Amino acid sequence: MTPMEKKPYSIPFSVSSALNTLRSAGFQAYPVGGCVRDLLLNREIHDWDLTTSASPDQIKQAFSQYPVVETGISHGTVTVCFPEMPLEITTYREDGEYKDHRHPDKVIFTQELGKDLARRDFTINAMALGESSQIIDFFQGADDLKKRQIRCVGSPDARFEEDGLRILRALRFASVLNFSIEKETERSLYEKKELLLTISPERIWSEFQKLLCGDAAVTVLRKYHSIFSVIFPEIKELKDFPQHNPYHCYDIWEHTLHALEHSPADFPLRCALLFHDSGKPEVFTRDSLGVGHFYGHEKVSLRKVRAVLSRFRSDKKTENLVSFLVEKHGIPLFPDPVLLKKRLRAFGPDKLQCLFEIQKADSSALALWEEKLIPLKQAEEMLRDILQEEHCFSIKDLAVSGRDLLPFLPEGPEIGKCLQELLSGVIEGLYPNQKEALLAIVQEKYTQKRNTGSLPE
Ligand code: CTP
Repeated sequence: MTPMEKKPYSIPFSVSSALNTLRSAGFQAYPVGGCVRDLLLNREIHDWDLTTSASPDQIKQAFSQYPVVETGISHGTVTVCFPEMPLEITTYREDGEYKDHRHPDKVIFTQELGKDLARRDFTINAMALGESSQIIDFFQGADDLKKRQIRCVGSPDARFEEDGLRILRALRFASVLNFSIEKETERSLYEKKELLLTISPERIWSEFQKLLCGDAAVTVLRKYHSIFSVIFPEIKELKDFPQHNPYHCYDIWEHTLHALEHSPADFPLRCALLFHDSGKPEVFTRDSLGVGHFYGHEKVSLRKVRAVLSRFRSDKKTENLVSFLVEKHGIPLFPDPVLLKKRLRAFGPDKLQCLFEIQKADSSALALWEEKLIPLKQAEEMLRDILQEEHCFSIKDLAVSGRDLLPFLPEGPEIGKCLQELLSGVIEGLYPNQKEALLAIVQEKYTQKRNTGSLPE
């Protein structure tokens, strides 16, 4: 145990009362793993995990007054549902062999905290918080926190062989904490990268979402491109693919990374940017002057990102937004109120605002970035005014409703069609958005239709 300076760490009431319950029943019990790491880093703690010498049955007995969920009872984990928060409590364990690189073939419960810590992935995740706030740290995790580095506990090859997801976890911690990866651990990451292919898509996706929103996501993507290419072959060819175009000063991969650098930490936005140009290599052509073009790459990028989203079982909401942003990333957006209202009508405010984020990030990564970015920012400002001033850009904003049209038109699809036509006229500034004026237009059109048999354009 490394003697460390003792600090009165603040622990939530449920955690300290669970520790007291176990300790007064004669068991050892400690907060462990991510919560200790985040406590030392002064980061917000999402989950407090406890480790104990009590067996799963003894844990259940000690907390019999609370609802208990047998989360992973065969692995020694039960979740005790305290009124303030659920707590995962796990029996000290050593893992048996991992034949499938994901699950230990058997779990051996132990009475030694040291053995439980030794089976964990990284030194910074292998610390426990002692009874008098001392840090129990057999593997110099606190030192690694100071050095800001990710290092495996013991042999990196063995740790990654046990669970291939740890390869992505190393990259996730490097991204989120802005840490480097220690040399031997890094060597093993490269060597064992194919193990990622043995991991379930859901586990990969959940790590990847956190990774991509990390502060150092771009640094990690740049440095470990070959590892990411294992799970996303869609990005493999982008690296060192020159664009031969005066608008571009980077190859496709560097352009992608620069665009990501200008994106807010929002998963759908960053995911769309990561794949927005993934279709380019497939459609690359050069004209007689040698200038490179990528006509229609948006459609190919859309196909590729859809394949990624379906392979990793993304939720539908993310899938829809990311697909939309990739498909439309090149659609013209400039400071013209009619155009912006047409875009609002087609996409709605939320999606359009996301599209602005994508296009600003994309434009910032161009050689002639000002040429695109300045009008884009002007258009965004104009959009803000349009939304603030509550201009009309959808049927529900029209001063007339379908019911108002009933005296002029038969009930049925013609009402909807008429409303759409009125909306086009209002957006284009041909009609005022006033009830009387619009009804007068409808009456006139309806009379003409009765006379000619069709509505005028
Ligand atoms: N762990 C491990 N190998 C894994 C996953 C987890 O050794 N593949 C260990 C680590 O000690 C980790 C602890 O289990 O700290 C809890 O894992 P988890 O809750 O998934 O991650 P955290 O480290 O707590 O990080 P976060 O809360 O940020 O997800």
